[in-house]
Amino acid sequence: MNQPIELSPIQNRIVELKHRKNAVILAHYYQRPEIQQIADYVGDSLELSRKASEITAEILVFCGVHFMAETAKILNPESRVLLPDLNAGCSLADSCPLTEFLHWKRKYPEHIVVSYINCSAEIKAISDYVCTSANAIKIINSIPKNQKIIFTPDQNLGRYLIQETGKEMVLWDGVCAVHEAFSVGKLIELSLSYPTAKILAHPESKSEILKIAHFTGSTTAMIKYVVESPADTFLIGTEAGILYQIKEFSPDKHLIPIPTEEDNTCACSECAFMKVNTIQKVLDCLQSESHEIILDPMIQYLASIPIQRMLQLS
Ligand code: 13P
Ligand code: SF4
Repeated sequence: MNQPIELSPIQNRIVELKHRKNAVILAHYYQRPEIQQIADYVGDSLELSRKASEITAEILVFCGVHFMAETAKILNPESRVLLPDLNAGCSLADSCPLTEFLHWKRKYPEHIVVSYINCSAEIKAISDYVCTSANAIKIINSIPKNQKIIFTPDQNLGRYLIQETGKEMVLWDGVCAVHEAFSVGKLIELSLSYPTAKILAHPESKSEILKIAHFTGSTTAMIKYVVESPADTFLIGTEAGILYQIKEFSPDKHLIPIPTEEDNTCACSECAFMKVNTIQKVLDCLQSESHEIILDPMIQYLASIPIQRMLQLS
C-alpha cells in the first residue's frame, strides 16, 4: 500500500463532520479518488450492500449511484441514507422501467425474476432474487434446474450467465452505456501492441469483449486478479475509477483502460452518473443532512426479501 495521503481542507472538514454526526461514508470503486480517500469503506456493490446492513450509524453517506443508496436504505432502515447528488442514476437501472417490465413479464407467467442489483427498488420489490456481478453465477446455480427464469436488466451479464451456468434464461434488453461502449477493434489493436498484457472485463461488457478477456469478474475480483497476477500490464475493461484503487495496491503495474469507440484521446471510460458526486457535494450533503433516500415503506419491505435472500446465499 502507498504512504497515507495528506488530506485537503475540504476532506478534513468531512472527516471532522463525520465523527461529530456519527456518520459513515461508503464509496464505490468508480467514485473520484478524493472521495475514495475519505470513505470508511470502499467496495463493489455486494461488499457495500453487506457493509450497509452491518453498520450502526445515524447517517450513512452513500457515494455511488441511486440504486446502490436505495439498497443501503433497504438493508439499513434505521440509518438516514444520504446520496451526495440525487441525480446519480444508472443507465442500466433506467433501461428497465417498472410499467414496461410488468407488461413484458406477463408473457412469461411460469418464470421467476432474477434481477441484477443495478435496478430500481420497484423492480427489486417484484423480483424473487437479486444478484450482483460478484455472486450472479452462484445465485443462478442455486435455483432448481427446471425453474424458468427471467433475468433483468442487463442483457450482457445475462448472456454471460447463460454461458457460465448452462441455464436458459429470458433476458430483458437493458445495457450499461459505459461497458457497452468498449471498442472490440481497439482492444484487439491494443492487445497486439501489448502481447503479454492480460485483458480484464466486467461482465456488463459485450460478449465480443468477454470472449477475448483473460478474466471476467466484478470490480473487486478484477482488483484481486491484478494484485495477485505475475503479469505487469493489464487492459482494463471497466469504469476508470477502479484504476485508483488498483494503483493503491499495485503501484508498479501498468494499467491501460480499454478505449471506447468514440474515444480517441484519453482512453478513459467514465460513468457520468458516478462522477456527478464531487467532494464538495459530499461535504454539502453531510453539512445540511440533505439528499436523503426515502422509499415507500411497502416497496422497501418487498425489495428487502430478494436482497436478503441474496446475502444469505452469497
Ligand atoms: P460491481 O458490483 O462489480 O462493482 O459493479 C457495479 C457497477 O455498476 C458496474 O457498472
Ligand atoms: Fe450504471 Fe453502468 Fe454507471 Fe455501473 S457504470 S453505475 S451500470 S451506468
